[in-house]
Parts: sequence; structure tokens; C-alpha cells
Amino acid sequence: QPPTSPTPETAAAPPPLPGLPTERPAGCPFDPPAELGRVRRERPLAPMAYPDGHVGWLATGHAVVRTVLGDPRFSSRYELMRLPVPGMPPGGLPPAPPGDLTGIDPPEHTRYRRLLAGRFTVRRMRLLTERVTRICAEHLDAMERQGPPADLVAAYARPVPAMVICELLGVPYADRDRFQRHAEVLTGGALDEDTGAAAAALSAYLGDLVRAKRAEPTDDLLSELAATDLTDDELTTLGVVLLGAGLDTTANMIALGTFALLRNPDRLAELRADPQLVAPAAEELLRYLSIAHTGARVALEDVELAGHTIRAGDTVAVSLQAANRDPLRFAGPDTLDPHRSPTGHLAFGHGVHACVGQQLARVELRIAYRALLSRLPGLRLAVAPEEVPVRVDATVHGVVELPVTWDEG
Ligand code: HEM
Repeated sequence: QPPTSPTPETAAAPPPLPGLPTERPAGCPFDPPAELGRVRRERPLAPMAYPDGHVGWLATGHAVVRTVLGDPRFSSRYELMRLPVPGMPPGGLPPAPPGDLTGIDPPEHTRYRRLLAGRFTVRRMRLLTERVTRICAEHLDAMERQGPPADLVAAYARPVPAMVICELLGVPYADRDRFQRHAEVLTGGALDEDTGAAAAALSAYLGDLVRAKRAEPTDDLLSELAATDLTDDELTTLGVVLLGAGLDTTANMIALGTFALLRNPDRLAELRADPQLVAPAAEELLRYLSIAHTGARVALEDVELAGHTIRAGDTVAVSLQAANRDPLRFAGPDTLDPHRSPTGHLAFGHGVHACVGQQLARVELRIAYRALLSRLPGLRLAVAPEEVPVRVDATVHGVVELPVTWDEG
């Protein structure tokens, strides 16, 4: 038998991408890395070399990303997954501890998800409107009292969601020094010792709290969950996940979203003139900024997708930010347009792991943007835009500080 010659397709196949593009365009922290756009245009699903030597995949096209997230043949189990960024431990990732619903699949995932889903409904989250409005107003009062300039991150974007998630869960906000920084370390960047220490510190803090709630339940989510069949360990880990997910994501959306509006003065003027536009604008900012920019799944069996065979065991990095800027899904995707309805955006993910807190995040963002714009006339950056420090290589994109000023009434 003559040796089989490569098929024309194989012979012509371009080599795997050398790695995940991470460099954003200079001076525009709102746009994804330009390289991602090129990859999406040419190969919406492409083989990619991972830093640990694994040759996996990168999905950038909206249709492919959505398919991967919605298909049960792709798993979220951490112990099967490779990381598309440096920091992969030599022995692989440890499995998700009991209670961490983000790194497991149905049916184990379904049990936790059911406990949460009914507690984060649109109706329940809308009930929080009044309280969130109050919390925003109090922080704006303090900012006004202090007078301009201010760092919007420290004065508003960080404390507002922190106070909201604390009250919802029943975590004393006064203890924030014991969890806020740790939670930020967890979404801040690479896997290193700091993240291990931060996770341990958060677990220790939440563990004490869970035992206290069991002994003396109060009117909050942790106490409600303590009345279910969850073990102490499960509830502690679930508490860490909820607190971590609720703190840093919304904070970065408030700050980076405000920055994006300040850089789009026409949009800002429109929102000021028509507060009804704030809700659709918040949705559009979620799409446009896609701060939770990259996820990952691993194939449990061989899967044919977009003309490729993904082998069992291959990791697929899913670029939510590239998918949300896909011109095949959104017309003029690089324009921030509050008049479009960006239905189908993937900023909260998709499928069984889609963000449990999305209705809460929407309530917070709408109220926080509206309150800020109506309260502080002439709100503007207090430094040149290039001087705003942007988070680099963080798993949740955003700004470190946002120096702003306004006209004093
Ligand atoms: C999951 C984004 C706010 C709790 C997710 C996922 C994304 C996301 C993309 C899916 C991850 C994946 O499939 O791998 C965001 C953004 C937020 C936000 C952009 C703010 C603007 C919140 C808040 C909470 C929360 C306020 C509060 C509790 C969760 C949880 C999961 C999750 C528990 C895991 C769900 C599961 O694995 O079943 N989020 N999130 N998120 N989010 Fe959010």
C-alpha cells in the first residue's frame, strides 16, 4: 500500500495560532485585541497552542461560541481543562471543590443551580430596586460632600455592588476588609500564590459566617441556603463563588461603562436627555465591553464543529468579547449604540452555566448609571484618557481607578 498522502485540506491547513491574543489596542481599552478580530474573520474556530503545550482551540465567531457553550458534549470540569493563559499547574487543575458550581457539569451542577435559580429571578431582583437606589444615592451624597475630583472606582463602582451583594447574602459589609481585596485578587489575573492564599482566606471567612448562620439564621440568602441539604463545606464554597462573582464583575462594569460613556459624549448626552435609554444602554455596554472576556470548555467526545474535528480531551477557549463583536451577528459591532437591542449577546455566557446573577447585575447597572448621570452634572474625566490605569491580563477587564470631576452646584 502506498503511504497515504495528506488530504488537500490537511496540506493547506494553516498552523495553530501561537496563543491567545491578549494585547488590546493602545489608547482604546474598550476594544478587544485587534488580533482576535482578524482570527475571527479568517478562522472563527481555530486550533491554538496553549502555553503548557496542549494544542486546543480558540472559538471567536458568535455562532461557534454559542454552540460550544450550549452543547453538553463540552464540559466545564476544571480537572479536564487546560488553561489558554500561563499558570497551568504541572499536574493539571484540581477539580472544583463541592459547592463550586462553575467547574462541574449536570447532573451535579443542576442541584446547585436549582437552589440558586429561584432566588435570583427577575421578580426578586426587581424587589431590590429601592434598596439599590438608596445605596447609590448614599455613595453619591458622600462624593458630593467630598467635592471633585474623585476616584469613581473607590467612591462608587466598588462599594455599591459590594454593599448590595453583602446585604443579599447576609455578609456584614463592615467586614469588607476581610474579603474585598481577596475577591479582587481572584479575578485580577494569573494563577499564583496570591490567588491560592486569597481563596483560602475567603473560605475561612465564609466558613465562620456559615456556621454562625446555621446557629442563628437571619433574613438573607446564606441563611436560606443553610436551611437546605447543603453541607457546611458546600455552602461555604458556594458563598465564596457568589461573593466573588457579585463583587468584582459589576464593579468593573460600572467603572469601565462610565469611562466608555465619557469617551462617547454624544451617547452620554442622549442618556442624560432620555433616562429611558439607560436600560438598553446598559445592555449594549455589556455587549460592547464584555468584561468577562474569555471562558473555556473541554470536549468529552469527538465533536464535528465548523468544519473541524475537536477531539475528546481538547480544550476550547471561548472568546466572549470576540463573539460579541462579530459583524455576522451584530451590525457595526465596534460602535457603542444604545439604540440597538443586542439580544443574544454573550456577556453573561450562555447555556447551563449562564450567569446566575445577571438580573441582579442588570438592576445594579441601570440604577448606578442613571443615578450617576442625573446627579453629577458635567461629569468628566479628571485626567487624560490615556492616563486612566487599565487592568492588564485580568480575567475580568476593567480599570484600576477612574479619576473624575464634575460641576459643583
Ligand atoms: C457565571 C458574567 C455578575 C454570579 C457567569 C458567566 C459569565 C458571567 C460570563 C458564565 C461563565 C461560564 O460559563 O464559564 C457576569 C458579568 C456580571 C456578572 C459580566 C456583571 C456585570 C454576577 C453577579 C452575580 C454573579 C452580580 C451574583 C451572584 C454568577 C455565578 C455564575 C456566573 C454564580 C456561575 C453560574 C454557573 O456556573 O452555573 N457570570 N456576571 N454574576 N455568575 Fe456572573
